[in-house]
Amino acid sequence: MPRPSRFIIDLAHLEHNLTQLSRLAGPRKTMAVVKANAYGHGALGCAKALENQINAFAVALTEEAIALREAGITKPILVLQGPHSSDDLTEIARYGLWPALSNRQQIHWLQHQTPNLEHVWLKVDTGMHRLGFDPQEVGEINAVLTAMGIQRITLMSHLADAEDSDSTLNHRQKQRWQNLLERNTGASDGYPNASFSNSAGTVGQLSFEESWVRLGYSLYGGSLVAPPPTLDLRPVMTFSSRIMATRWIEAGETVGYGGRWVAKRRSRIATIPVGYGDGYPRSAADGTPIGTPYGTILLAGKVSMDMITADVTDKPDIEFGTEVTLWGDSPRIDEVATHCDTIGYELCTRITDRTPRLFNR
Ligand SMILES: Cc1ncc(COP(=O)(O)O)c(C=O)c1O
Repeated sequence: MPRPSRFIIDLAHLEHNLTQLSRLAGPRKTMAVVKANAYGHGALGCAKALENQINAFAVALTEEAIALREAGITKPILVLQGPHSSDDLTEIARYGLWPALSNRQQIHWLQHQTPNLEHVWLKVDTGMHRLGFDPQEVGEINAVLTAMGIQRITLMSHLADAEDSDSTLNHRQKQRWQNLLERNTGASDGYPNASFSNSAGTVGQLSFEESWVRLGYSLYGGSLVAPPPTLDLRPVMTFSSRIMATRWIEAGETVGYGGRWVAKRRSRIATIPVGYGDGYPRSAADGTPIGTPYGTILLAGKVSMDMITADVTDKPDIEFGTEVTLWGDSPRIDEVATHCDTIGYELCTRITDRTPRLFNR
């Protein structure tokens, strides 16, 4: 019998989340962001589950898109980083991908190769200052691409402060976006060829003018912003295991590496066979919640590579074999992440292949 630790990926929840988010998106088209192996959930399984319901996919890298194409995904795929070299651009054209262009070097490769590209996205820097053309350059770049015969150009930008829906940075970006659209876009169906919203923009209903929303984390059931009460997002990933040992220790004894957790009373400690070697973060603080059928128990002691320990003194029903949820329905991944001084995006993206990923419908 192998170790009972696993990631269960509920594709019905994924489809449900897309239905919920599509309602919020209204007339805007939906793009499913499946980069980094669909945030750890398994890109191909997720893409197949979403393909009939989604308008397009997005990945960061050409190689991620090629893997999906070669596995039979035929829907459009946007490559968010665009080509990293002239050869990369050749591959983008060969596989019929949509590149996001964000610098003049990429435009230079395009001018020299004149590849046959159906749809190009132009990334504009409205305040993130990471990638993208300055808003003042967009008119000129648009003209260059149009002169090359590229018919469909969609402007895109990205929110820098998604976690705070009221942030002044968001307001500034929105104002720049508005100005940009007034100067540069043609309307399609009354909406500009444009895309700003990620999950937080969509869930937080920040109302950008756009024809596409790009949905990543929310599709998988997480959210950095408070969702509207009518939005029901369900966790797609459940990280579960079973208790492998319990023991009593005396007051004053410590648990785990470095003796970080000190028993204030005679305590019962449960050991669970997951650790940072599986993607359970080593940064998890004492008190990080873990779900059981008998209620929440709390992490006690530093996370090891293969094991964690929890205080089960007040849970006499917990014994060898009791099922535990590291994240899933309860606790949610966002809650666990706050105890690890990170965001749920990092937790699900950093799970490792040692632990089986089981697809469930
Ligand atoms: C350019 C771009 N658009 C959209 C997304 C999706 O963001 P989220 O997962 O917050 O929906 C990302 C993710 O990092 C991104 O880089």
